[in-house]
Amino acid sequence: MTRRIDLLAADAVGEGEMQLVWVDGGVSPVVVVRSGGVVHALQGTCSHEYFELDQGFLTRGALTCALHLSRFELDGGEPLDPPADLPLAVYPVVEEGGRLLIEVPNGPLEVNED
Ligand code: FES
Repeated sequence: MTRRIDLLAADAVGEGEMQLVWVDGGVSPVVVVRSGGVVHALQGTCSHEYFELDQGFLTRGALTCALHLSRFELDGGEPLDPPADLPLAVYPVVEEGGRLLIEVPNGPLEVNED
């Protein structure tokens, strides 16, 4: 069984921008990124240590964590540099009625952390 979580208006994140959205009653952060015309949704904090990823920056298909500069692929969340060695959880995005939603399994949102 899956559930859908409404994140924000589709036009709230422009090309090359990202935004952190707190879901599930404000306990789980999701970072929403629009890059190359594609919207990605990933866990909002780094898999290395607790650090909010919207403080980082975007470069050619990757999101760089500002704390220790690990880059993560937007497709799949794989780390490209140390010190992070776990991928970010990625959530399938659905655009519907001008809103961006993620479709995830029932239960707690998947998050990978050391
Ligand atoms: S907290 Fe992100 S790379 Fe260390």
